[in-house]
Amino acid sequence: MKSVGIIGIGRVGGLVSYNLLEKGYNIRAYDVIENYAKGQIMDLKHAFAFKDASVEFTSIEEMNDCSLIIITAGFPRSPNETRADLFEKNKKVIEDILNKLDGYKGPIITITNPADAINTIVAREKCRETSFGFGSTLDSARLVNITKNASDFIMGEHGENFVPVLSNKNVDREEIAKRVKEDNLFVIENKKGTEYAPAYHITELADQLLSNGEFSTYASVMCDGEYGIRDLSIGVPVRIKNGRLEKIVEIALDDWENERFKKGIETIRKLTG
Ligand SMILES: NC(=O)c1ccc[n+]([C@@H]2O[C@H](COP(=O)([O-])OP(=O)(O)OC[C@H]3O[C@@H](n4cnc5c(N)ncnc54)[C@H](O)[C@@H]3O)[C@@H](O)[C@H]2O)c1
Repeated sequence: MKSVGIIGIGRVGGLVSYNLLEKGYNIRAYDVIENYAKGQIMDLKHAFAFKDASVEFTSIEEMNDCSLIIITAGFPRSPNETRADLFEKNKKVIEDILNKLDGYKGPIITITNPADAINTIVAREKCRETSFGFGSTLDSARLVNITKNASDFIMGEHGENFVPVLSNKNVDREEIAKRVKEDNLFVIENKKGTEYAPAYHITELADQLLSNGEFSTYASVMCDGEYGIRDLSIGVPVRIKNGRLEKIVEIALDDWENERFKKGIETIRKLTG
């Protein structure tokens, strides 16, 4: 079975490891807090002792032949912080990890916030086609939980300026955006951080990437002229094939959507240059 490298086996990384082990993948995990990581790993070993899957603590360098790497390392936000506020401290985390991932050539899913700016750094350093920032599918799930319309989705910045794309535009879209934000903060305020929802949707993306098929989803990827953007990663509809970005799908945005999308680009550009 394929091996997945998990860098940062905290709240989200731990649950993603659990989900992927349950699907039969092998896990190699690393965390800067070694004793906590080894505790997480022993707990996971006990969960899957009767299954043919392995979970081991390794260095980042030992992940070079993994089929996928998921970066869940870094500082999470508190209720009074935006994701963008995390940039300076999480940039250091990601640069440290990238230095150690020198020999790795496969796909990377970056969860660390602010996911678009962090994935911009990853894609610039590694490869545009194999660097995926996570956030839009989770935002979309938060939206659909409110609108109950499965064709609604969220693209754009995984941050303050996310863009809800609704099939019914005759509603108070500002109010819906406000509720999406409030529901996310509700989780952070009441249980310190999000966990089940990101882990579920990260696992789904990981499993799709690892099955090497062709699929459509929403992810933060480095644009190369699409939506008039270059050298910057933002949440967009994508087509993925054999674990690589095949195509960014360009959809027409109306004025309200476009204004939010542009504000998102400005925020990410301010962080990444
Ligand atoms: N993109 C999304 O939709 C989304 C969703 C949830 C969380 N996040 C982000 O994911 C990150 C992790 O969130 P969490 O709730 O799991 O946090 P957490 O604090 O529970 O786990 C983070 C782990 O990263 C480790 N770590 C820190 N620096 C490291 C380094 N240099 N190398 C290896 N490991 C390192 C920590 O020791 C910790 O165990 C945060 O930045 C959070 O904002 C993003």
